[in-house]
Amino acid sequence: MNELDTLVESARADFAQATTPVDLENAKARYLGKAGRITELMKGMGALSVEEKKTRGAAINVAKQAIETALTDRRQALADAELQAQLKAEALDVSLPGRQRGVGGLHPVSLTLERIEAIFGSMGFEVADGPEIESDWFNFTALNTPEDHPARSMHDTFYVEGGSAKAPNLLRTHTSPMQIRHAVQHVKRHRAALDAGQAMPEIRVIAPGRTYRVDSDATHSPMFHQCEGLWIGENVSFKDLKVVFTDFCRTFFESDDLVLRFRPSFFPFTEPSAEIDIQFQSGPLAGRWLEVAGSGQVHPNVVRNMGLDPERYIGFAFGMGPDRLTMLRYGVNDLRLFFDGDVRFLSQFR
Ligand code: PHE
Repeated sequence: MNELDTLVESARADFAQATTPVDLENAKARYLGKAGRITELMKGMGALSVEEKKTRGAAINVAKQAIETALTDRRQALADAELQAQLKAEALDVSLPGRQRGVGGLHPVSLTLERIEAIFGSMGFEVADGPEIESDWFNFTALNTPEDHPARSMHDTFYVEGGSAKAPNLLRTHTSPMQIRHAVQHVKRHRAALDAGQAMPEIRVIAPGRTYRVDSDATHSPMFHQCEGLWIGENVSFKDLKVVFTDFCRTFFESDDLVLRFRPSFFPFTEPSAEIDIQFQSGPLAGRWLEVAGSGQVHPNVVRNMGLDPERYIGFAFGMGPDRLTMLRYGVNDLRLFFDGDVRFLSQFR
C-alpha cells in the first residue's frame, strides 16, 4: 500500500470513530483543513518537475476525493443515526387507547330552571336576572313588607355589610325584589307611551335565581332557588294566574290530570294571596297535596312602587321553588343532595 492509500485508510478510520458532527469536523480538519495532511502534500510538490507534478498531483487528487467521499458518507450516516434516535425518543404508540374526556352534565336544578324558562318562554314570558345582594328597599319595603314583619328579623335574614342602619344590605330572601326591579325598567322603557296616555305593553316575566334564608334541614338549605313570575297589564286577573300556572305544572310534570289547589294565604305584597298545591293522580305521590308556590294579585302599593297607577294596572305574581320541583320530578327526598356535589348522585341526571 502506498503512502496515499494509507492516508485514505487512516482518514476513513478517523471518520468512522467520530460519533458526533463536531468530532467529524475536527477529523476533517486533520486531512482537508489549512494545515491538514492533503494540503501539506500539495504544498510539498513545489520542488518537483512539471512531469512529476502532473502524476503526483493527480494521485493526491484521487486520494483527496476518496477522503471527501468518506467524509460525506460519514456525515450522512451521523445525520441518519441522529434522526433515528429522535424518532425512537418521540415514538408514539398509536395502538394505545385515547385519553377519555369525562362527560359532564347539567345539575338537576339547572335542568329544572331550563325547563321552567322554556315553558314560560313558550307563554311569552321574558327571563330576568338580578342581584343576590339586595337592598332592604327592594327586598322588603317596596314589597309592602312592614318594619315589624318577622322575615326582616336577624334570625331569618342574612344581613351583609355595606348598607346603612336605615337601609341595610342583605342576601335576598326571595326573588320577589325582581318584581320591582324589572317593572321599574319596563316602565322606564315605555315612559313616553305612558306619559302620552297610551297603553303600555304588558309586563310578563319570570326571574329565576338563588335566594338565602337562615334555615337548614333535610328540606331547607340556607341557599336555595326560587323563580318569580309576574304578569301586569290592564286586564290581568286571578283567572289568568290559574290558567298559566296550571298549564305550567301540567307541562312541567308531563301529567295532564295533575290537579291544582289555590289555598288562601297571606303575603304583604299580594292581595288576595294563595298558596298553590298540586296533586298527582298516579305514581308514588298520588293523592297527596304538595305545596309548590306562593302567589297572589299584586298589591296596589307594590304596583305604585313599580311606577304604575294601581287604578289602571293590575296583575298577579307567584314565587315557586325549583329545588322542590326538582325533588318531586325525580323523586329525591333530601334537598341537601343537590348541594353536596357528590358525583355519584349528580351523574344520574346526565
Ligand atoms: N316571595 C314569596 C316567598 O318567598 C312567594 C311569593 C311570590 C308570593 C310572589 C306571592 C307572590 O314565600
